[in-house]
Amino acid sequence: MSTEFIQEAGFALITSEVDLRSQIWEWRGSGETIALVPTMGALHAGHISLIAKAKQHASKVVASIYVNETQFAEGEDLDTYPRDHEQDCEMLKEAGCDLVYIPAKMYGSHHSTTVSVGGPALGLETNHRAHFFAGVALIVTKLMNRVQPDIAIFGEKDYQQLLTIRRLTADLDIPVRILAAPILREPDGLAMSSRNRYFDNVGRAVAGQLNIIMRACAKAIKDGEDIKISTDKAAADMIAAGFDNVNYVAVADINSLELLSGRLEGSARLLMAAHCKGVRLIDNCAVG
Ligand code: PAJ
Repeated sequence: MSTEFIQEAGFALITSEVDLRSQIWEWRGSGETIALVPTMGALHAGHISLIAKAKQHASKVVASIYVNETQFAEGEDLDTYPRDHEQDCEMLKEAGCDLVYIPAKMYGSHHSTTVSVGGPALGLETNHRAHFFAGVALIVTKLMNRVQPDIAIFGEKDYQQLLTIRRLTADLDIPVRILAAPILREPDGLAMSSRNRYFDNVGRAVAGQLNIIMRACAKAIKDGEDIKISTDKAAADMIAAGFDNVNYVAVADINSLELLSGRLEGSARLLMAAHCKGVRLIDNCAVG
């Protein structure tokens, strides 16, 4: 979409940082509260549920769409990541979003600053995508500084990302409240994802097994089975179901994301990542 600034009753599309700031200042001047929902576009009902949650907590909702190059490594799907701004804007308008921010420019040519989060950003995803949370932390910090929202909504679908952003905003005194939204799933339980559209019928059928194996694993752990035995079995079941490989199946503390072992006492999070017919999938659920 080439237009820089589209404004209709109750909906604006902005691509320039100056226009964004002036809209935010106008809203601030009239006492509005602002929620931010950062996305990479290719929107589905999971993203839209974040908009619905944002509307419950703020008087103005800003969604950003930006396929953030700093969180993709060489060989990942940056170039092929699905992009459909026109349809995304239609969905956001329909959902009652007030402003869609599609930044024309995110990083200057002399950009030299990194944002490195420890704690929950370490391990799991980072063992397989070393660059990932540095890229996410950088773009989220920049979006927070541009939009200056009162609240921001992130999905539990990316559970480690959610905890990383909570850590980041707390550590850097970014004055925003982070709210979590539950995972929206397809009828067979597969977590909705922009990358699900990469699947052919065979891949999609295999992908649908992930949440079934995950739930069985969570139940076994809740019922007292040793964590390592349950997670090893889940990984074996995934390979048997047709997954290419398993990056991890792990049980972790719900806040610190420290890995747990033995028999579970209390509650925890089960997290998993695997490749299915060339597509990387992540999922997670509560245990106990
Ligand atoms: P993206 O994958 O587009 O996801 C945007 C937001 O939607 C994230 O908070 C994600 O957790 C949430 N989401 C995705 N699928 C969901 C589902 N099935 N149910 C509920 N929420 C879901 O995550 C990113 O983009 C990027 O890393 C970003 C934070 C925008 C930084 O570039």
